[in-house]
Amino acid sequence: MNFQLSEEQLSVQKAAREFARAELLPGVIERDEHQKFPAEQIKKMGELGFMGMMVDPKYNGGGMDTISYVLAMEEISKIDASASVAMSVNNSLVCWGIEKYGTEEQKLKYLTKLSTGEVIGAFCLSEPEAGSDATSQRTTAEDKGDYYLLNGTKNWITNGNSASVYIVIAQTNKEKKHKGINALIVEKGMEGFKVGPKENKLGIRGSDTHSLMFTDVKVPKANRIGEDGFGFSFAMSTLNGGRIGIASQALGIASGAYELALQYSKERKAFGVEISKHQAIQFKLADMATEIDAARLLCLQAAYLKDQKKDFSKASAMAKLFASKVAMDTTIEAVQIHGGYGYVKEFHVERLMRDAKITQIYEGTSEIQKIVIARELLK
Ligand code: CAA
Repeated sequence: MNFQLSEEQLSVQKAAREFARAELLPGVIERDEHQKFPAEQIKKMGELGFMGMMVDPKYNGGGMDTISYVLAMEEISKIDASASVAMSVNNSLVCWGIEKYGTEEQKLKYLTKLSTGEVIGAFCLSEPEAGSDATSQRTTAEDKGDYYLLNGTKNWITNGNSASVYIVIAQTNKEKKHKGINALIVEKGMEGFKVGPKENKLGIRGSDTHSLMFTDVKVPKANRIGEDGFGFSFAMSTLNGGRIGIASQALGIASGAYELALQYSKERKAFGVEISKHQAIQFKLADMATEIDAARLLCLQAAYLKDQKKDFSKASAMAKLFASKVAMDTTIEAVQIHGGYGYVKEFHVERLMRDAKITQIYEGTSEIQKIVIARELLK
């Protein structure tokens, strides 16, 4: 076993850290306040190779491993979790899904642009009445010969308005239940496709989350991913990898809050000494650092298994379950260490605390991760 990162991995980590500090930190508070999507920053992330990190270079990707992706996600998420969720969805749900299961034509048409960030993607599974219970899709994709007629509504879609390429999960044959579901690539601008209002959220307020409406949208058969009826397996398989991204996001939110709390504890004085000299604060810092290290190891283990082409569904669910709890616990303690300053926006930790919560909800709630883990244990 080797715990040493390679030179290449270290340089990806450094590049992500420097980018986040130089380009994402300025304006992050205002973007959160005004719910502004970091469009320019995402464009730059694309130019630096962060939007299609693991994609084969022949489709304009970075050809990097999943470990590098975890490292970059952590660094970006320390500063701006709204930017990192756009990055995560584009990399691990949209690019990975199309690269792994798409046709050559789909890869040339869509992946080559998604992997450079020239366009960004969205993954549309959740519906008003189908969140955790993802097999009960109400959106329909009626088979009309050489196209599907798409009707329905999707909810809470990350990159909802900013995306140009949408992977939409829909029911074609209800009798076949989840085996009658398809995954279709829908382009913005297709007739009958409308982006609904933006959600006003607790956290990741810079991320643009929308509902989407499809009314008699004609989607060519050539845009179906995989065989007829493969859509649900596609969604589950893609989400297994997506969870490594969200686990790393949670890790970054936690480590970002921890670094701020550590620094603050060495500067702020109370009762005549820096608060870091008080054991009450030391114990908090010790717990935070230990839990963050454990979360990081789980993320890296899931990434390692994925890179080794081994089954990583349990590992990614464990990483997400644990890292998202660590994000919540750590950010709450980071606010506590900051005292009154922690409760105001300028010190960043209140935002990180609000951002942390979603990591226990999207790409499978913590309860769903426990189902995935338990099923693997009991196989
Ligand atoms: N990996 C691969 N395949 C899986 C799987 C996994 N983790 N979990 C289930 N499957 C497969 C099963 O093997 C089964 O296939 P077969 O019939 O061919 O054997 C099929 O999926 C159906 O599985 P179940 O019968 O177990 O279905 P279920 O209804 O009991 O439960 C579930 C499935 C695990 C609860 C699933 O519904 C689930 O994961 N729900 C959560 C959905 C989710 O994560 N949503 C996130 C939205 S996307 C998002 O948030 C993106 C964003 O914008 C940030």
